[in-house]
Amino acid sequence: MRKIIRGGTVVNAAGTSQADVLIDGGTIAGVGAFENVDAEAIDATGCFVLPGAIDNHTHMSMPFGGTHSSDDYDTGTQAAAAGGTTCIVDFALQVHPGGLRSSLEEWMGRAEGAAHVDYGFHMAITNADKETIADMRSMVDEGITSFKVFMAYPNVLMVTDDQFLAVLEHSRELETLVMVHCENGFAIQHLVNTALANGQTDPIHHALTRPETMEAEATGRAVRLAEFAGAPVFVVHVSCRDAAEEIIRARSRGVAAYGETCIQYLFNSIDDLRRPDFVGARYVCSPPLRDASNQPFLWDALRFDHLQSISTDHCPFTDEQKRLGLGDFSKIPNGLAAIQHRLPMMWEHGVREGRLSMNRVVEITSTAIAKMFGLHPQKGVIEAGADADIVVFDPNRRHVFGVETSFMNVDYDIYEGQELHGSPRMTLSRGTVVFDDGKIVTKPGHGRFVRRSTFSPRDI
Ligand code: URP
Ligand code: ZN
Ligand code: ZN
Repeated sequence: MRKIIRGGTVVNAAGTSQADVLIDGGTIAGVGAFENVDAEAIDATGCFVLPGAIDNHTHMSMPFGGTHSSDDYDTGTQAAAAGGTTCIVDFALQVHPGGLRSSLEEWMGRAEGAAHVDYGFHMAITNADKETIADMRSMVDEGITSFKVFMAYPNVLMVTDDQFLAVLEHSRELETLVMVHCENGFAIQHLVNTALANGQTDPIHHALTRPETMEAEATGRAVRLAEFAGAPVFVVHVSCRDAAEEIIRARSRGVAAYGETCIQYLFNSIDDLRRPDFVGARYVCSPPLRDASNQPFLWDALRFDHLQSISTDHCPFTDEQKRLGLGDFSKIPNGLAAIQHRLPMMWEHGVREGRLSMNRVVEITSTAIAKMFGLHPQKGVIEAGADADIVVFDPNRRHVFGVETSFMNVDYDIYEGQELHGSPRMTLSRGTVVFDDGKIVTKPGHGRFVRRSTFSPRDI
C-alpha cells in the first residue's frame, strides 16, 4: 500500500524543501513532486513534515527505589508517538548476576508485543566483572551497540572507576559507545547522610545534596577516562554549565566526547522542588534541576553543537510512588515524565521563539541521535530508502499540555496548562499511522525491536 504526504514543507537537518513524500509500505520511496501516483493521500498543506524524533534516553518499567517507573512499552510509546517520537532507545539494566544476557532477555520480553513505535536498548552495566566484559560482544551481536554506566547511585547501579575503565577499553575494541551518568556517587551519599542526620528531609534537599560541582567533577573524570582509553563517550542528561564545559574542553582537546541535555533542564529549575504539599517530589530527578541561570548556556550549547542532542530521560512515577519518600527525600523515586513533550516544546521555545532553526531542532531531536546510536540512515532523515517514520507537524494546531491530553501513565503533568501554538497532527511509524489528530490508532505490538550498527566518530 502506498501513501503520499502532499503539500508540506519537508524539514531535514540538512535542509528544507517544498516536497511530497511518497511512501511504499514501511519505506520512503521518494521525496519530490509526484503527479498521478496511485497512493492514499495525506494532506500536509501548511504543515512541516519532519523525520520522526528519536528519544535515546527513556526508562520504561524501570526498577527504582522499590518500585517501577509507571509507563510500560505500551503507554510510554503511545505518549512518544503523540509527541512526534517514532523510536526510543531504552535502558536495559544488568539486574542479574552472570553477564548480561538474562537481563537483556528480561527487557526484550517486556517490550515484545507492547510497543507502538520502534525501540532499541542500551545495556546498562552495573557490575563490570570479567564475565560481563566478555559478554559485551554478544550484545553487539544482538544489535545493542551502546552501553551505559552510572557514576551515581552507590550500592545499586554505580560502577567504580576501574570498572568504568574496563568498559571503556572493551567498548573501544567493539566500536560501541559508552554512555555515562556523571555524578560523584560516594560524595553525594555523604551529603545525603549529613542532611538526613540534620532533619532535612524535604524534596528540596535532593537537589541541595547533589550540587553542580558533583556533576562537573564526575563529568571531568569521565571524559578524562575516555580520553585515556581512547574510547568515545556520551554524557547523558547534562544539567548545568560547569558539566557542559568539561565536555566542551574535552572536545577541544580532540576527545570523541558527546553530550545531551534534557528538556527539564531547559524548562524547569531547582525552585520546582520547593513546591509545597510534597508536589516538589514530582520534580526529583538526578542530576537535579538547577538554578535557572544555567539555561541560556544550555540553549547555546545545543545551538553551537557543544551538546549534540536533547532527550527526555523519561522515567515517570505517580504521586503515590513519589510518596515513598515522604519524610526522607532520598527515598523519592528519581525521574520525570516528559516523553510526550520534547518536540512540541522544542518547536515552541526553540523555533518559534527564535533560539534554534527548524533544521537544528530536527538534528538534535532526531538526526544526530540516529547517527550517534547506529540508526542512520534507516532513521533520522526523510529521504528515499529510509524508514517512513514521519511527523506531520502543524504549527497552528494549538495544544494544551495536561493529564487530559497526556498518554503518559502518570496522574499529573509537570507542564499542566501550558499552551503551545503548534503540535504534531499525525505520526507515522514505518508508513503506518500511529497517532492521528489526538488519537492513537495502532494496537500494541506495531513497534519492533531495531538492531543498531556500531559507532564511528567519523560518521557523526
Ligand atoms: O532521575 C532520573 N534521571 N531517573 C532515571 C535514572 C537516571 O539516572 O537516568
Ligand atoms: Zn541518569
Ligand atoms: Zn536516565
